[in-house]
Amino acid sequence: MVIATVLAILSLFSKSMAAARERTFLMIKPDGVQRGLVGKIIKRFEQKGFKLVAMKFMWASEDLLKKHYADLSARPFFPGLVKYMNSGPVVPMVWEGLNVVKTGRVMLGATDPKDSAPGSIRGDLSIQVGRNIIHGSDSVESAQKEIALWFDSKEVVAWKPDTEAWVYED
Ligand code: RTP
Ligand code: MG
Repeated sequence: MVIATVLAILSLFSKSMAAARERTFLMIKPDGVQRGLVGKIIKRFEQKGFKLVAMKFMWASEDLLKKHYADLSARPFFPGLVKYMNSGPVVPMVWEGLNVVKTGRVMLGATDPKDSAPGSIRGDLSIQVGRNIIHGSDSVESAQKEIALWFDSKEVVAWKPDTEAWVYED
């Protein structure tokens, strides 16, 4: 009985810790970089309490971008999307935290900035769908695929911020 209770508590604990380790792939697009919005965008995720675990600055190849947006390859805007994403450097990142995939998408706002809520990143900082400054994974599964596409496992850093106990309940 005691053992069962301890195991149940441990399992609840490990479930909540596993949820807090959810990861998403975010990428500041070339327009976000050109417009000097990198710091402002990163600051929103830092201030929320999410944890940065990987980041780089690079000019992505067409090949990589075509793989990244492969699901959209049949869409009429695909060639323009790849050209836009290949027009300058980008900042790919991995962020970790409880529900970070879903909450990250809410923080980004709707795909088309004309529909993005004020207060969201796209809602506050962009105007047109083809210049919407940031990408975010749309599911945990896409996040896992995208992280593996953009980062080596060695580039993703496991670390525990000293502030964790002030961001998450026990
Ligand atoms: P993302 O993947 O970049 O985070 O954007 P999303 O999930 O909100 O939207 P998605 O459907 O995946 O579209 C990817 C990107 O393609 C461009 N787009 N242009 N001209 C158009 O109608 C159109 N629709 C989408 C946007 O840059 C969008 O973020
Ligand atoms: Mg998408």
